[in-house]
Amino acid sequence: MSRLTRKDDHIIHTLKLYKRPALSGFTDVTLVHNALPEVSENDISLETELFGKVTGAPLIINAITGGGFVPAKVNEALAVASRETGLGMAVGSQTIAVEKPEFAGSFSVVRKINPGGLIMANVGAHVTVDTALEAVEMISADALQVHLNVPQEAAMIEGDRDFRGWINNIAGIVRKIEVPVVVKEVGFGISYEVARLLKEVGVTNFDVGGRGGTNFISIEGLRGNRKLDFLESWGITTVASIVEVKMSCIDSTIIATGGITNALEVAKALALGAKAAGIAGVFLKVLFERNVEGLIEMIECVKSDLKKILLMTGVENSAELRTVPLVITGKTKEWLTERGIDTTIYARRSREPINGRYIFQEHRELY
Ligand SMILES: Cc1cc2nc3c(=O)[nH]c(=O)nc-3n(C[C@H](O)[C@H](O)[C@H](O)COP(=O)(O)O)c2cc1C
Repeated sequence: MSRLTRKDDHIIHTLKLYKRPALSGFTDVTLVHNALPEVSENDISLETELFGKVTGAPLIINAITGGGFVPAKVNEALAVASRETGLGMAVGSQTIAVEKPEFAGSFSVVRKINPGGLIMANVGAHVTVDTALEAVEMISADALQVHLNVPQEAAMIEGDRDFRGWINNIAGIVRKIEVPVVVKEVGFGISYEVARLLKEVGVTNFDVGGRGGTNFISIEGLRGNRKLDFLESWGITTVASIVEVKMSCIDSTIIATGGITNALEVAKALALGAKAAGIAGVFLKVLFERNVEGLIEMIECVKSDLKKILLMTGVENSAELRTVPLVITGKTKEWLTERGIDTTIYARRSREPINGRYIFQEHRELY
């Protein structure tokens, strides 16, 4: 089956398979309520510096598609939503357009519609430096995402089976590409060990793309008409992956994607150490159900809800959220404890009053 049909299939099956609740670990995380916040909503700012651009919120429309008629229409609509809401946006894998330049327009339309916004290019880790460079140039990208998708390829009937050489490709891309490079999973998470390996070749930006949201094993199972339910729980949850990557590379920039559906999950991801959250599946679903106007409305709603959560935790911006105490329980605590990570670091973040307002002090060893 051609890659074009595959891209349409991914959209159709994502919409079919969408289910709540997501299983990304966020129900195991509780932000500690602040009954005396001493903060006014007027002073809260969601603006976030990300890869050299200032975005309207610590949230991105993550990589979904490109190539072909339907993907082009989806990219157009997502670009309008990103421009109107100030969110950053990533396009889907551009390899198809490097191979067949007639498809480049379905990606470059995003830059045309949103000339000043944060736009990220996207390629797989199998590509050459030249292909990565072409992808960046195609959309005048501010950053490049390099995706890791081994379980998806393994589950795909026509997928790749040889994954050697990826770390060398990534090392070459990081060395040669001038914009920031973000290594991203597509829904199975990045472990402490993999983050460490990537750090050794110069990677400092990670999108954890954890388990719990869009599941490409299920999608490929549906596409290939095969039952792969027994593999559906494969991967590291988004919450566990944020913590693993943070512990592995303290100074890294983390984007948290994977099953994020509302402002509380965004806030929890930021409090765990992410600089921004990413959403793909839910945005796609809202776009198909309620058009671009509905998507814009939903994003504005998430932004407004996020401000309320910042109010209730007593902080004025998302960076301060990274210092708010939170409690990790349940399966996620068990996982992290077994992995040698002390979750009480988060639960007991220290605080001192500054000008009558309680500012949570950053944990030096964490940030
Ligand atoms: C239809 C669809 C296509 C996707 N295609 C890509 C892609 O080309 N490149 C990529 O890096 N990620 C791709 N993703 C993965 C998302 O960027 C994201 O990492 C993943 O869906 C988890 O986030 P979610 O649970 O919010 O959907 C795709 C996701 C969807 C739903």
